[in-house]
Amino acid sequence: MPWPVWPIAILVVLSSAGSAAAESGADAWLRYPYISDAAVRRQYEFVPGTVAALGDSPVLQAARDELVRGLSSMLGRQLKAGDAAAASGIVIGVIERIRERFPQLQPPRTPGVDGFWIMSPAAGASRSIVIAGHDDRGVLYGTFALLRRVALHQPLAGVNDVETPSAPLRWVNEWNNLDGSIERGYGGRSIFFESGHVAADLARAGGYARLLASVGINACAVNNVNADPAVLTSAFAPDLVRLAGVFRPWGVRLALAVDFSSPQRIGGLDTFDPLDARVAAFWTERADALYRAVPDFAGFVVKADSEGRLGPSAYGRTHADAANVIARALAPHGGVLFYRGFVYDHHMDWRNPANDRARAAYDNFHDLDGRFADNVILQIKHGPIDFQVREPPSPLFAALARTNQAIELQITQEYTGQQRHICFLVPMWKEALDFDMRVRGRAPVKALVTGRTFARPLGGFVGVSNVGESRNWLGHDLAVANLYGFGRLAWDPDLSPARIADEWTRLTFDHDHRVVDTVAGILLESWPAYERYTGPLGAGTLTDILGPHYGPGIESSERNGWGQWARADSAGIGMDRTVASGTKFIAQYPPDVAAMYESLGTCPDELLLFMHHVPYTHRLKSGKTVIQHIYDAHYEGAEEAAAFVERWRKLADLIDADRYRAVLDKLEYQSGHATVWRDAVVSWFLRESGIPDGRGRAGHYPGRIEAESMDLEGYMPQTVTPWETASGGHAVRCAGAPQCAATTRFDGGDGTYTIAVLFFDESDGRSQFRVLVGDREIGRWQADADFPSPEPNGHTATRYVVRTVTLHRGDAIRVEGTPDQGERAALDYIEIWN
Ligand code: GCU
Repeated sequence: MPWPVWPIAILVVLSSAGSAAAESGADAWLRYPYISDAAVRRQYEFVPGTVAALGDSPVLQAARDELVRGLSSMLGRQLKAGDAAAASGIVIGVIERIRERFPQLQPPRTPGVDGFWIMSPAAGASRSIVIAGHDDRGVLYGTFALLRRVALHQPLAGVNDVETPSAPLRWVNEWNNLDGSIERGYGGRSIFFESGHVAADLARAGGYARLLASVGINACAVNNVNADPAVLTSAFAPDLVRLAGVFRPWGVRLALAVDFSSPQRIGGLDTFDPLDARVAAFWTERADALYRAVPDFAGFVVKADSEGRLGPSAYGRTHADAANVIARALAPHGGVLFYRGFVYDHHMDWRNPANDRARAAYDNFHDLDGRFADNVILQIKHGPIDFQVREPPSPLFAALARTNQAIELQITQEYTGQQRHICFLVPMWKEALDFDMRVRGRAPVKALVTGRTFARPLGGFVGVSNVGESRNWLGHDLAVANLYGFGRLAWDPDLSPARIADEWTRLTFDHDHRVVDTVAGILLESWPAYERYTGPLGAGTLTDILGPHYGPGIESSERNGWGQWARADSAGIGMDRTVASGTKFIAQYPPDVAAMYESLGTCPDELLLFMHHVPYTHRLKSGKTVIQHIYDAHYEGAEEAAAFVERWRKLADLIDADRYRAVLDKLEYQSGHATVWRDAVVSWFLRESGIPDGRGRAGHYPGRIEAESMDLEGYMPQTVTPWETASGGHAVRCAGAPQCAATTRFDGGDGTYTIAVLFFDESDGRSQFRVLVGDREIGRWQADADFPSPEPNGHTATRYVVRTVTLHRGDAIRVEGTPDQGERAALDYIEIWN
């Protein structure tokens, strides 16, 4: 029998199936899997086999190659780069060139900047598919839109679509330090920098630019807003040239965060006064030099007078003076300046009830409206504090009629689980974007930041992304949905969270309805669940705000200058921001919105404690008291997190093994940590308020055996700080012995049980643990995760679970810990349930 000639389709399938890298998560939503369903594939049979670009810019070449790569892979037949003059084919180019080539074709509308038109003939017609861009970048975005259609198995025949993005500026900020670390980055180290320089290998930086392009992001500020002035030195320019070079084919323009005191720190001046002519000359000279090196450089981001960064206040100048001196240097080159609205005093006197950090952005900027240069955009965090799990939209959005503005959203989950918890933020962002500020009639925040309400020329979206070298960019396969969702919303803020979750799931995993329902379902429920177990009724994320912003730390926000106060005491909780009796923050909103927040009757429950201080017995619209809501919400949230694990488990045979396992591990961890959160919050409020949980749960933990009450060999009791982050306020630690053990006798009935061990996985060692029933080892693990603390507390508290354990009354259950370095194999409790 002769050697069979295999059709290309099969070869393509084999080659992609054989490559383990294909499901590492690195391709994110750009996997282009072969469409194995013949009926679905058939609808693309008419797609021509060649792709021709009308022009040869790097962006057009990238678009053409992406089409060849994506369609070949999905359709299982090799497409080729083709000749534009051929009778039919896929033809891409800017709209003027397309018009010359196809004078008979007319788009239904003309695409705007970065926009595109996709025209595809009816199936069976042997005509060309056309992707016409307003500009090269538009061609690239149209290319990705077409590929997305096919990857989503949507019809292509007869498509005649024009899309223009909602706003011209769709940026990401990466808080990368030049040493390769990332501020608030949870996806590994930098893909841009190492040892003070741009990294030698920029393959992943290029890959990231491709991901950004696929959702329409057009610039990337690569370094930390707490900026190192070295980026502006001449010595750094060749590095930037290389970085801009890997971004360029993807239409992603390079941008930098700059330090406002650079004229003094690297410019040899004795001042950085924005009104000093020498300072202006410094900025001009630096901008000119940068543009000589990187002609398509996008612009700067500036954080000044904030969290210890120097700013114009050093010279009694305004933020407009500060922004304009830099903006004027960029203007001749078409560059823009994002000036951050995140300016506040972090040494505020907490004893003064009139003080309120939430007021800061508005107080600092609204009087300056109209005084910024045309190429300045005020970059405003979506809420008035700092990326908490629930905040109202910043009132500053409504206060700037003559200033360009952009909304800053945080993709990196600083206060929302740090990519160890899944917390899909698109529904939260969407609430902010859809919130109607009621100025000049209807003015949802999305219309304000895209410049529509006040007819501003520049505006848009900035996402703090902080991707790293982790195989899947963000450290959690599901967290990547936030990056995708940010891009999709920046392109079109009218998209619904459900649609974004559905698209992302299909593109990232599969079309099987069980996969789509489960994954999209978990995503959409994850922010409400996270909110329930971490932060009630707008009081903020009840996390350790003086530390890494991760685990619980209820009181850490109080009695310090940072101003994230929830003002919780034995009588009540909440910041009184009313006009009547509080900080008058509410008066910063337009009158209709202010009236809604001011009244207890109309203020929504979920923001009650952001706006009002109330007793724990205050009744919510739900009919519950505040304290009972706190108890119930934390139990519900933890139950939801537990259910995510069970839901995910049902996908075992439907998702590739690596990603299935990685996500399962994360969800298991999240479920345990949600319990830690729940217990910390309810214990704290139970003790503080003295009001018991009406359902009898808080303070009662059936099946829980505190480590300090077990028979201890070598283990010694230890007080944990803050007390609420360990059950009963205590743990045990293995000090002074090479191995320790804690044993208890099972006193329940014979049966099958789940055993959970709560231990502390600190950053200062890798302890080993074993759990045994009698002589039978039922679990063994190493505490080797990288949680952000070297102490036993709410950041390091971790749960290990063993399911289906057969137990008999009287069995000895023994946990053994072997400490390592500073980590003393600390244990909190075991819990047994069936
Ligand atoms: C938060 C964050 C800081 C960051 C700051 C900012 O406060 O914790 O790390 O520098 O925001 O946005 O500038």
